[in-house]
Amino acid sequence: MSPSSPPCLPGSLRNAEWIASPCAGGPRTSAPAAYFRKAFQIDRPVKSAVLTATALGLYECEFNGQRVGDEVFAPGWTDYRRRVQSDTYDVSALLRRGENVLGAILGDGWYCGFVGWGNRQVYGDRPRLLARLHVVFEDDASVVVVTDGSWKTSPGPILENDLLMGETYDARLELGKWSEPGYDDSFWIAARRSDPDSVPEIHPRISPPVRRIGEITPVSRNDIDSSNSATCRHVYDMGQNFAGRVRIKARAAAGTMIRIVFAEMLNPDGTFYTENLRGARATDFYICRGGGDETWEPRFTFHGFRYVELSGFGLEDAAEPTGIVLHSDLRPIGTFRCSNPLLNQLQHNIEWGQKSNFLEVPTDCPQRDERLGWTGDAQVFIRTACFNMDVRDFFHKWMRDIRDAQTSDGGIPAVIPNHHFLNGPADEDGGPAWSDAVIICPWTIYLCYADRQILEENYEAMRRFMEFIATHRCLRKIRSHPRVDPWGGFGDWLALDGGAALEGLTTRDLIGTAFYAYDAGIMARVAAILGRQAEAEQYAGLAEEIRQAFQRRFITPEGLVMPGTQTAYVLALHFDLLPKSQRETAASELVRLIEKNHWHLATGFVGTPYLLDVLEASGHLDAAYKLLEQESYPSWLFPIKNGATTIWERWDGWTPEKGFQNKMMNSFNHYAYGAVGAWMYRSVAGLDLDPDEPGYRHIIFRPRPGGSLTWAEAALETPYGCARIRWDRDGINRLNLALEIPETCRCTVKPPPNYRVERTAYGPGTHCIQLSREL
Ligand code: BGC
Repeated sequence: MSPSSPPCLPGSLRNAEWIASPCAGGPRTSAPAAYFRKAFQIDRPVKSAVLTATALGLYECEFNGQRVGDEVFAPGWTDYRRRVQSDTYDVSALLRRGENVLGAILGDGWYCGFVGWGNRQVYGDRPRLLARLHVVFEDDASVVVVTDGSWKTSPGPILENDLLMGETYDARLELGKWSEPGYDDSFWIAARRSDPDSVPEIHPRISPPVRRIGEITPVSRNDIDSSNSATCRHVYDMGQNFAGRVRIKARAAAGTMIRIVFAEMLNPDGTFYTENLRGARATDFYICRGGGDETWEPRFTFHGFRYVELSGFGLEDAAEPTGIVLHSDLRPIGTFRCSNPLLNQLQHNIEWGQKSNFLEVPTDCPQRDERLGWTGDAQVFIRTACFNMDVRDFFHKWMRDIRDAQTSDGGIPAVIPNHHFLNGPADEDGGPAWSDAVIICPWTIYLCYADRQILEENYEAMRRFMEFIATHRCLRKIRSHPRVDPWGGFGDWLALDGGAALEGLTTRDLIGTAFYAYDAGIMARVAAILGRQAEAEQYAGLAEEIRQAFQRRFITPEGLVMPGTQTAYVLALHFDLLPKSQRETAASELVRLIEKNHWHLATGFVGTPYLLDVLEASGHLDAAYKLLEQESYPSWLFPIKNGATTIWERWDGWTPEKGFQNKMMNSFNHYAYGAVGAWMYRSVAGLDLDPDEPGYRHIIFRPRPGGSLTWAEAALETPYGCARIRWDRDGINRLNLALEIPETCRCTVKPPPNYRVERTAYGPGTHCIQLSREL
């Protein structure tokens, strides 16, 4: 293939042409969603019929009046300049003798709608469809129907659709039975053949699509301005912050416009707090057909919300809205519970943060004009994510997006898919703890699912990234040294020790060098696993050199880590960057800092995920529990005491003293601080893996009871079957343990310090054992 020739179509889409509507929107305005149809004849009995479809934009297909598939937002989000995913459907059962109709509706989606805080038309000016139906008859003859200039198109009732802004639907403009045979399409016009500026490669989807996962009914209703039905607003509390939309049911005169507004929080006077949505309008409009009951749910938008406000019509004729939960259809595989109900709510909030943000790509938040695949957020949360849901294929797909986004010199941008959304240096290099997702994510998936393939697929990208850091971001093994990397990344994002500065006090070269050492250590292991012995040794040597450089620059002869922030200590300890003799000093200093802060954390995105691991590993389990069960600000439980149902972006998203944080950065559904979930599974309940036998083939049961807890339990559907642990305190000196180990696995019980167990090794099956405290 010459560099300029477009990639060829896969066989399943052979001869199909990209088609589009003649109407396009502009940088700020959208065009109505286009409907497409193609009628054709079938004159013999059919053996099989397979439809392959994709779009630049979003698509939904219909066949003879029936929806094909149940995907939402197909074909998902990739860098459409390079790659788009396709879906394949068996439509044999939908075909009939005589006239048949294949139809499709296109939405703007990420392709040409608003993305991030920029304008519309990020990848192209209008959505495009590509489809091919392959019918094989019983006599083995076959026929194909492909998208081409013979298709017809028309606008319909969807006047506008946008992921961030919302959808407007005028039911008076419905097209009737437009995807059924016998429909009069004489007022439709010819679809336009329309090659995109850059023609992407087409690949079958590799991760589960977004689907309607569940429904939520409101827990309460409050009417504002109820004396006047023209201006009256009905506010529903869905009881849960989530990503999705609502289905409404109403009966009103033709032309009545119902406005549906979404918010995560209410102002103290009960009105909607929408300022934190920034440029996202997050409002749907439905214009009634009139003449009876009407039910509507938008197709091509979603919102992040807990509260819904309906206005524009008399409520006597409306049913309450139903929440539709949308996310990538990832199988739930883990549960965690313990005797402290607030920690159970924390687990609930972590799960909902994950549901709300694992929508096609791991996003930072589902509500404001952002919703981007932030690498740092994904990296800090991935270990927790692997406990809650089967995210293996989801990350295979996102790692492919990362490879697509890697710059020619090996840099990894801050958000993936990347399209210069940030308009700055982070479009080329996300900086410490962000770009390192290229190393940490495949490694974590390997550990949790024994998935060697993800290492193989990404090794080259990982190696190139290490090369990039060495060549462009380091001075004498100090990464993000101010002399070579004046920006240096996002720091310890949203840490509380930086005053008004969003990036905290921990210096960027410290964070950079710590992560560089961590990366080199991972690379040494990955190279060894892949049989690249020489490279394994080089990376191990590099890790040691970085460690030395770290010690020279950041560690005082007495073992203090400079600057003395909680995160600086956490990273130095967690990544094993201190000489052995100084670990104890450093750990005590970390505890001293926390105690001085009245047993509160001060860490941001970077330090928080490892904080409790570090305290536990250095013999300060009591301090770890004090932080975990801390209820006053700042802490994980403070938002819960204040009604949170998801994880907040900021420790102080809302406080009784100050009210809401700065509206420019105040999401109530960010999963990053939910990274503590992994510690709850691994240490509170005590269900962990052995890196040398990944995927839980060798399970490590290491309960670490502490704080107020009298029992805890965790279960996980591992690649080999269900693993489970429950511990109960039995008096003050005994623990009862119930274990379940899947076939083909084994386990080692590692009792808490000062506890004794008669036997530590167990095979498949269930086991009840007792641990007693050494007196
Ligand atoms: C996002 C993040 C992200 C950060 C980068 C924010 O706007 O919401 O979660 O990691 O920017 O610093």
